Amino acid sequence: MTTTVRTRVAIVGAGPAGLLLAQLLRNAGIESVVIDSRSREDIEQTIRAGILEEGTVQALLAAGVDTHAHQVGMRHDGIELRFDGAGHRIDFADLVGRGVWLYPQHLVLQDLLGTLLPAGQDIRFELTAQRVEDVDGEQPRVVAVNAEGTEVEIVAEVVVGADGSHSIVRKAMSGSRAGLYREYPFAWFGILCEAPPSADELIYSNSPNGFALISQRSDTVQRMYFQCDPDVDPDAYTQEQLWEILQSRVPGTTLKEGPIFQRDVLQFRSFVARELRRGRVALVGDAAHTVPPTGAKGMNLAIADVLLLNDALRVLLLEDDIRPLEGYEQAALHRIWKAQNFSWWMTSMLHQVPGTSEFDAMRQLGELRSVTESRAGRTYLAEAYTGWPHPPLV
Ligand code: PHB
Repeated sequence: MTTTVRTRVAIVGAGPAGLLLAQLLRNAGIESVVIDSRSREDIEQTIRAGILEEGTVQALLAAGVDTHAHQVGMRHDGIELRFDGAGHRIDFADLVGRGVWLYPQHLVLQDLLGTLLPAGQDIRFELTAQRVEDVDGEQPRVVAVNAEGTEVEIVAEVVVGADGSHSIVRKAMSGSRAGLYREYPFAWFGILCEAPPSADELIYSNSPNGFALISQRSDTVQRMYFQCDPDVDPDAYTQEQLWEILQSRVPGTTLKEGPIFQRDVLQFRSFVARELRRGRVALVGDAAHTVPPTGAKGMNLAIADVLLLNDALRVLLLEDDIRPLEGYEQAALHRIWKAQNFSWWMTSMLHQVPGTSEFDAMRQLGELRSVTESRAGRTYLAEAYTGWPHPPLV
């Protein structure tokens, strides 16, 4: 038996993009249903990256999300690029008058769920989207199945795919015409450890042994990454070996070591979907694009998509005018390709490509010097890292 649910907007995926969209639609009195294959606990505990642009925090606050980013998060007014034995600070505050917030994604999700659920938002966990029907029609439908195997059909005026890089909604829209992408011959090995911070700010280090990133989580928990082979087995290394690798990649800093309690491998891919919208079906966030983590753009770009889509949906659903939705793809792609370029650029400037020529290795140092020794170069990096301004909200 199939249960049918009717709503105005069916949102597939309770990540930052899907949940923020639900909140913005609520603010305009537009009803939506959010579904996700994961449980609430899984969603709130998944370890992901943690840099929020100032504009992202502002967007959450303006949407009425009860976020603790400014209280619990750590404001960072710069980052360090380390190469050739020396550190070079990129002083965001001085260069562009903005900073970023280190506030992990699972806390953003806790804030969103903590705002939406008490307000009565319909969010259905452990309900897995199987397909989208009538993609080209006036009433697209999401067909999903719950843990008991019962089919639930959500009939809506608009379907939004906020369902991550393996998006079912994208598949329904575009089939195998997936999109444009680029692979990289490396991945990141990430660890969480119990130790005091090794640095006050993030260190992005290009060393002859490969890239490392020293990040933080709190006074007692730290997050670090190092460039690794994409096929590496996360359990292949002992804790001692992990510390040895990390230490060797940040010459000039003695890392404060402690027990490593979590390890994961992040694959690198740059991807932009061929279609971001078809009829009354649209994609946001990782369903629409993925970026390598080096530029810290993933969640910020997802939020930027949502701000644009929300404007378009308000006009469609409150004024019955579909034109802004028809312009959504072009509007979103403007920022997406800038972020793709920035993420690719940071990645290519900081990582060692296996088997690279000495020429390319020396050229890379030349590039890093060009950026760090020039105020214009540092400003370019700072502008992109802290985030380009959002268009004004409707
Ligand atoms: C993180 O803290 O997890 C992090 C920070 C900066 C990045 C990527 C990940 O570019």
